[in-house]
Amino acid sequence: MTAASIIFGRKPHKQAPSQYGANSFSMVYGERARWEMDHFQLCESMLIGHEQIDAEHQALVDVLNHGLDLLATSPQVEAVRDVLDEFRTKLSEHIANEEVIMTRHGFTELEGEKAEHHNALACLDDLIERHLDEHDFETLIRDIAGLMLGLFIKSDMSFKVYLEKIRDG
Ligand SMILES: [Fe+2]
Ligand SMILES: [Fe+2]
Repeated sequence: MTAASIIFGRKPHKQAPSQYGANSFSMVYGERARWEMDHFQLCESMLIGHEQIDAEHQALVDVLNHGLDLLATSPQVEAVRDVLDEFRTKLSEHIANEEVIMTRHGFTELEGEKAEHHNALACLDDLIERHLDEHDFETLIRDIAGLMLGLFIKSDMSFKVYLEKIRDG
């Protein structure tokens, strides 16, 4: 499977009025308009096949979706920072847990995976610093989602293949 073909699925979390189309804005009881943003959703093909790892990936996606919900309310920078702190904390915990799980299974590419984790965390910090200063929160959340897909989950695909191999063998 090539990771390039795997994109976060998107599902509308609220049904927009049909005359506007699913991705346009809708009126909230006539008081004000706000953007209805689609939630990120992990595609089935992105599941690793390890219960804890998949649950933690989903929990990370949930935090990003919470961030999208927040953006619909014209948030203050402190509120966005809270979501980012939660994401950063959960991601660090996930990385630590994942490396323990991989070690326990005798994963042969562990050193490479650790390097990916290290680089990706540095990229995350760089993104947050850059976009938070610019107050471009929507770009920030979407870039983080892209980073998760490209660096965190894509690199786990080799563990998925490894797990399938040792289960079959
Ligand atoms: Fe992971
Ligand atoms: Fe990983």
